Amino acid sequence: MKFFLDTANLDEIREAASWGILDGVTTNPSLVQKEGKTFQWLIEEICRMVNGPVSAEVVSTDTAGMIQEGQDLAHIHPHVTVKIPFIKAGIPAVRRLSEKGIPVNVTLIFSPLQALMAAKVGASFVSPFVGRLDDIAHDGMALVGQIVEIFGNYDFNTEVLVASCRNPLHILEAARMGAGVATMPFKVLEQMIHHPLTDLGLKKFLEDWEKIPKELRTASAVKV
Ligand code: E4P
Repeated sequence: MKFFLDTANLDEIREAASWGILDGVTTNPSLVQKEGKTFQWLIEEICRMVNGPVSAEVVSTDTAGMIQEGQDLAHIHPHVTVKIPFIKAGIPAVRRLSEKGIPVNVTLIFSPLQALMAAKVGASFVSPFVGRLDDIAHDGMALVGQIVEIFGNYDFNTEVLVASCRNPLHILEAARMGAGVATMPFKVLEQMIHHPLTDLGLKKFLEDWEKIPKELRTASAVKV
């Protein structure tokens, strides 16, 4: 399962990349707006830091505009994946960009049939937004389950990218369902590291180590 970071913050991306666990990044206009930097510069910097797909979203809402923007974004760096919202005008844009060999992440997916249609026009990724469904009392992970099931019935080259993840349980469920990718805020990635029993266990090990006389602690001091 691939871990993507859902952020445009360079410090967060740098840190996660340094852990060797980062497979890609997703951005969107709201995440870019928070950083107060030039869009193209930001995407270029992220692409340099991450050895994997970096989603950059178009803001046009007509087919020709989305295709043009998608091509321009793809020119920024080979790591760019063009993000296209699942609207009617976006469907031919996904087809066209995919045929040109430009990877597309179809975003704002809220139904399994939207995901199926995106896969049929060649999307590299579909992004079901689980947290936003949970927010309105719909089961976001049930949507992921349906998409994984549908894709399992056919031979699409489309990965399920679980998006709008709000907590580690979303990632756990996504992994259990066999989703290919989960994108998460940096906070969720950090939350997944910690377990109180790990911290307590290490504390006890280190306390016990201190009780061993210093001359017995190194291999050279071992007496048989
Ligand atoms: C995914 O590509 C989106 O950028 C993101 O996951 C949206 O998350 P949100 O619902 O927390 O804004």
